[in-house]
Amino acid sequence: MNFKILVVDDEEIMCTLLKEVLSAEGHDVYTASNGVDALGVLEEEGCDIILSDIRMPDMDGLKLLHAIIERDPEKIVIMMTGYATLATAREAIKEGAYDYLMKPFDIEGVRRSIKKAAERRRLYLENERLKTIMPLFEISNRLIETRESEQLLELILMSAMNQTKSPKGAIVLFAKNNDLPLSVLKRDLELDSSHNDLGKKAIEKLLSGANGLLVTRNDKHPLIGKMPRVKTLPFAGEPGAGDAVLCPITVRREDTVGCVIVQKDTTQDSFSEGDCDLLAVLSNQAGTSIENSRLIKDLEQVSVSTLQSLVLILEAKSPYTSGHSLRVSRYARLIALELGFDEKEVKRVEAGGMLHDIGKIGVSEDILIKPAPLTPEEYEQVKRHPVIGDEMLAPLAYLRDVRPLIRHHHERMDGLGYPDGIKAGMLSVSERIMVVADAYEAMLAKRPFRGIIGVKNAREELLEHKRTQFDADLVDVVIRLSEKGSLTLDE
Ligand SMILES: [Fe+2]
Repeated sequence: MNFKILVVDDEEIMCTLLKEVLSAEGHDVYTASNGVDALGVLEEEGCDIILSDIRMPDMDGLKLLHAIIERDPEKIVIMMTGYATLATAREAIKEGAYDYLMKPFDIEGVRRSIKKAAERRRLYLENERLKTIMPLFEISNRLIETRESEQLLELILMSAMNQTKSPKGAIVLFAKNNDLPLSVLKRDLELDSSHNDLGKKAIEKLLSGANGLLVTRNDKHPLIGKMPRVKTLPFAGEPGAGDAVLCPITVRREDTVGCVIVQKDTTQDSFSEGDCDLLAVLSNQAGTSIENSRLIKDLEQVSVSTLQSLVLILEAKSPYTSGHSLRVSRYARLIALELGFDEKEVKRVEAGGMLHDIGKIGVSEDILIKPAPLTPEEYEQVKRHPVIGDEMLAPLAYLRDVRPLIRHHHERMDGLGYPDGIKAGMLSVSERIMVVADAYEAMLAKRPFRGIIGVKNAREELLEHKRTQFDADLVDVVIRLSEKGSLTLDE
């Protein structure tokens, strides 16, 4: 392993000699003639090993040692000494120097000492690298155990903040072809999507293909110019806000779909190269998680569409049931909206309405389209369809929430329904919506041996079975919607 070595000596011939010897070993060697120049080289190059003379003009070797150790106690400093300064060299070891070399040099001795120092530096760097990797192992183990996309993003954000010691952070997901955030998961971060630099300007830069952004007031930030991913951005955040790093989240290596942002306070040290590497890995995980979640949702959508097609095909076989489930789904949705349900629950009752009769696939077609009254045995077969539907969907985890709506759409408030004969108190409001939406559609629609009874009669029938068959409040809601002209047989 090759290192950057700095030789500091006011005798030019010493610098030239050591540069020649150590370059031949494969190291990159820099030289300086005094302590002040040496600190300048260290600032620019960040050398791993420093070989320093003790007696030098301006700043001597001991002062240089102190200055180096104060900035980075892990730097390896080897003092070069003549007999006259031997006591000082020994003192330097106590103060943090790694070793000393006696002048005049034995070249083999110099090589041996540098080899030992290089090995120690290698072990230190390896240890630092492991310290970065270990948290990533822990994070990836937890990511494997976490399936929900939202929880994954939450975990990624918390890991990004913890690992970079940032008190503030956010994950922003963009709408496609739009620079406005689609959703934002944030922790104490002031993120104004339209006004400040951490919002709109940064996001514009990310969308234009930047690999990552460092937002800082410090024009001499050590990461500028060292990492191709880092670009500066004029900072206009709130006064207490420190440096920030934004890492793009990409999906399928092309689209930037969002970004991970972490921000420090002004009292903290800024971000290191290791921090940025870790953020890049976490952003990559976020991209993979979003992509997986999208693929799963696509598959689920295909699966639901297939089930819906099955229902439509089944119902189309009889003029009396054609379009029944579509209408029940629409009624259920309108009732749920009237009750102020949230979007997730509205979608659940909508899906329940669409799939509530899916179990009829398991009932003989001859019975379903029989142009005459059913025998008691045939009726018993029809009554099995809620259980068949519930069991059909059991393997589909993403429809788990919809199954109770399917199973219970023929229950009654007085407990005389089927298949479980449970009473109102055991039925959720969404299940009761299924009961009334299904029955009201059946009342409105044309039926064999009965024809169409009309809206007025249907409402009366609802009122007649209020509390026994149907939930009383929901009957009122249905009648109200019906009076507004909402629940009709037409689309
Ligand atoms: Fe049914």
